[in-house]
Amino acid sequence: MSASKALKVVHAIPDEAWPTATQAQQSMWFSAFQLGASCQLTSRTWVPAMVPWRATDDGEVTQDNLDWYGRFAQGQPGVLVVEATGIRDVPSGPLLRIGHDRFVDGLTRLVDTVRKRSQGKTRLFIQLIDFLAIKRRPEPEKYFARFLAITPEHRARLSTLDQQDWGSAPEADVRARLLRGTAEDHDAVLTARELESLRHGARERVTDVQLPHIASLPQVLPDLFASAAARAQKAGFDGVELHYAHAYTMASLLSRLNTRADGYGNTPQGRVRLPLEVYAAARAALRRDTVLGCRMLADEVVDGGSRVTDAAGYAVEFARAGMDFISLSKGGKFEDARPPRVGEAAYPYTGPSGHECMPTVRSDAQGPFGRNLHLAGTIRAAIHAAGFTTPVVGAGGVVSFSVAEAALQRGDCDLVAAARQSLADPDWFLKVRLGLGHTVRRCKLTNYCEALDQRHRKVTCQLWDRVAIPLEGDVHRDGDRRLTAPSWEPPVV
Ligand SMILES: Cc1cc2nc3c(=O)[nH]c(=O)nc-3n(C[C@H](O)[C@H](O)[C@H](O)COP(=O)(O)O)c2cc1C
Ligand code: SF4
Repeated sequence: MSASKALKVVHAIPDEAWPTATQAQQSMWFSAFQLGASCQLTSRTWVPAMVPWRATDDGEVTQDNLDWYGRFAQGQPGVLVVEATGIRDVPSGPLLRIGHDRFVDGLTRLVDTVRKRSQGKTRLFIQLIDFLAIKRRPEPEKYFARFLAITPEHRARLSTLDQQDWGSAPEADVRARLLRGTAEDHDAVLTARELESLRHGARERVTDVQLPHIASLPQVLPDLFASAAARAQKAGFDGVELHYAHAYTMASLLSRLNTRADGYGNTPQGRVRLPLEVYAAARAALRRDTVLGCRMLADEVVDGGSRVTDAAGYAVEFARAGMDFISLSKGGKFEDARPPRVGEAAYPYTGPSGHECMPTVRSDAQGPFGRNLHLAGTIRAAIHAAGFTTPVVGAGGVVSFSVAEAALQRGDCDLVAAARQSLADPDWFLKVRLGLGHTVRRCKLTNYCEALDQRHRKVTCQLWDRVAIPLEGDVHRDGDRRLTAPSWEPPVV
């Protein structure tokens, strides 16, 4: 089923009967909560990881990062999770990194900024990510001239196609013939993986065990995650979130598509093995009072991928291992991503699974609002049935108090995260708590922000104004959109 066929209904953002200050104070969402051994949260509100593309190209914290996270902190969410931060010491563009001790100073400044600007009310976690290589979609000329390794199988299939012997033809002629070929010719001659490299850009998988650096993931990842977690603790973070969700290494290990035959794939036990070993190594590197949990997928939503029953099984194993929380997301996979333009890389939020991850108002009949919270309910029930009480964080299309509160009352989850609504108005938690919900700048769920993320451009919100640039005299013109949400001061009472 194609995404465009299914997404026929455009939903309006529903009016909200915002709570009074007293009602908010008595609600579950704004009640205190303890995570892990001793981490006291002022509320069960949570801002999940969002990459703003504001680090230096070397992955260092910038003033823009401090402003960005400081601005979220002013709204005083219970937990604020810093973006997916790279655990390896390799260039990754303007994404934060934590793969070396030199990153600790900048991250310490970030922790200090959030403490100060939330007045100590927000606990700060950091999401740790590992990802495999993905190449930009190549020019066909380059692909056929340089990247494709010509094999006897290509020659044989081309011979069948053309009814002419390509077996001993010069390689340059085979390459030129393929470049001239139609899409149907390519379908007939190239393997599925080669077609993907041509039409989407080459992408490594956890199953590419013929590559030494992928075969050795079980040997290298526990130490990489553990060292990164120790640096996060040194920088003063209250907690660490292992990124086991979306399109990246750890989620790919948990996927049913993981057919590794070395004990780290193929069966549910094999698929969860490295995520458990990574967790154990990170736990051993941390003090007991530093919170440690993961973000994982409640459902991959791709053909042949893991579904909610698989996810519930993994979550029970994570609970048994002692994780302090399990934060849930959905989809966001490369497998069904749209082909990128030539020169661009595939983005895992462009296909149907991407829509499930960041649902928009253009949706199916169910609509985007709180769309994924029932999956959290299934997983939380499985954790409880196994005798554990590991807190579960639900997310997905939460743009109102009532949806969050109802999920908590139903027992779908223990904490509720809101990403885009918090981006649109980082003060919204504070406004609702003060009984000023009617002043919340409400997210339109149309994903302007996500389109910027896709192009690795500085993420902003379409609801933020452009900063006026003074010209001659009193004349101003619209400048760039501001990089943090417009300021708001709570009324003095
Ligand atoms: C700009 C942007 C960047 C994101 N970056 C991350 C990320 O680094 N890690 C992550 O787990 N999720 C990331 N997400 C997904 C969000 O955390 C969240 O799961 C998703 O937006 C659905 O929640 P919402 O409906 O409240 O926005 C990102 C979302 C957006 C909009
Ligand atoms: S850009 Fe759109 S979807 Fe993103 S936070 Fe702003 S209103 Fe919401």
